Amino acid sequence: MDFKNTLYSYGQDHLLENWNNLSEEQQLTLKRDVESQDFKLLQRLFQEHSSKPSTSTEDEILPLTFDLAENNIRHSMWEETGFLLLEKGQVAAFLVAGGQGSRLGFEGPKGAFNIGLPSGKSLFQIQAERILNLSNKAGHPIPWCIMTSPLNHQETLTHFEEHQFFGLPREYIRFFSQGTMCALDSNGKAIKSSPEHLALVPDGNGGCFRALAQSGTLAWLIEKGVRFVFLYSVDNVLVRIADPAFVGALASDGRALSSSKVLRKKNAQEKVGVFASKNKLPAVIEYSDLPEALRLETYPDGAPLFDAANIAIHLFRTEALKRLQSTPLPWHSAKKTVSEVENAWKFEQFLFDAFPLLGSMTLFGVSREDEFAPVKNAEGDDSPKSARQMLGSLHKYWLERAGVKTDPRKLYEISPTLSYAGESLSQLVFDRELGKNILAFDP
Ligand code: UTP
Repeated sequence: MDFKNTLYSYGQDHLLENWNNLSEEQQLTLKRDVESQDFKLLQRLFQEHSSKPSTSTEDEILPLTFDLAENNIRHSMWEETGFLLLEKGQVAAFLVAGGQGSRLGFEGPKGAFNIGLPSGKSLFQIQAERILNLSNKAGHPIPWCIMTSPLNHQETLTHFEEHQFFGLPREYIRFFSQGTMCALDSNGKAIKSSPEHLALVPDGNGGCFRALAQSGTLAWLIEKGVRFVFLYSVDNVLVRIADPAFVGALASDGRALSSSKVLRKKNAQEKVGVFASKNKLPAVIEYSDLPEALRLETYPDGAPLFDAANIAIHLFRTEALKRLQSTPLPWHSAKKTVSEVENAWKFEQFLFDAFPLLGSMTLFGVSREDEFAPVKNAEGDDSPKSARQMLGSLHKYWLERAGVKTDPRKLYEISPTLSYAGESLSQLVFDRELGKNILAFDP
């Protein structure tokens, strides 16, 4: 159907007002924006979300339990298995970096943000160097898929180009953009952000499965023989990308299609989503969706019963990703101000909605201080400062565990090119690398 007819048939022809006053180039731009949208879907979502009463109260929600993986007697076997898979090139990394990072308030892709470590490295650089270290150990490059959004795609690419892809082989990195959804006003009319542009908003991190497939990246991974894909968020400065033990644990489980790292909630009030069983299927329940009575339930020792915190670190078998390319995730809606229109409807998908669809997964327990320091806010909790402190304390602990005499007044930053997760450190290495790949800083 001609794009103008599409607009007429979905009641969006207001977008054509002033059409004749637009230049030819502006007309083309608007046409392209319109053609990027599925107006039938937008119409259906608006009808459903503007009329529906929210969540059912009859869900059966039960806690899911987990143990710390490092205490498991099979941990070293998992690690060996994971390394074997890395050596064979069967493990890839998948970064979802299409978010807008609005809470941090940084202009530009969040991954290009320098969190203020003494090295001045960006989040992208820290991740790239961890991948490089692990690839070198495995003797095989780790394919890295990076999902951006149309709002930050070019800037992300430029950041990598300016840094020569941080020493990684260019042909093992694929950048692709996620989809967008046009914001609608309270009458369901598409909003414009300028005379020639629709107000397009990234379609949520759950858009990653569609984008991975539609960009040809899933096929690229399968062609390379990849069987396990490590999927993670851009802002956790401690993320152990493609962690061999995590990979080995899923590979050793004949049944599960995916696995997620979890850690214990600090307390019942911590505002994180938790893994739970919902109507007999694994699911992530957001903080605000877990009924208070359940949230406050505790074990006899006072620990919350629903304590398997989701830290957005997942591992999928490629079979699961294939299945998800054709299984639609549910859509969520939020009302926000978009292009100065108040109470505009935004629609997005969440990647954790994949778990009930897949049905079978495992949980891999980790410690917060080892693996989770997100940078979400400009100040306070989950800020650059808290992430620096956590990284500095962890790296200092690694040094002390290796028998190094450290300065009690300092924290340390160890380059991921030197140590992926605390290995290869000693007094000798410390003396040689201090001021180079090991930097001391004030807490
Ligand atoms: P967050 O939920 O923390 O959102 O994303 P955000 O956009 O980074 O930050 P705020 O909420 O605006 O402050 C978790 C992960 O999902 C990615 C983000 O880039 C981050 O890695 N994400 C989010 C996408 O890839 N696409 C999206 O549409 C939304």
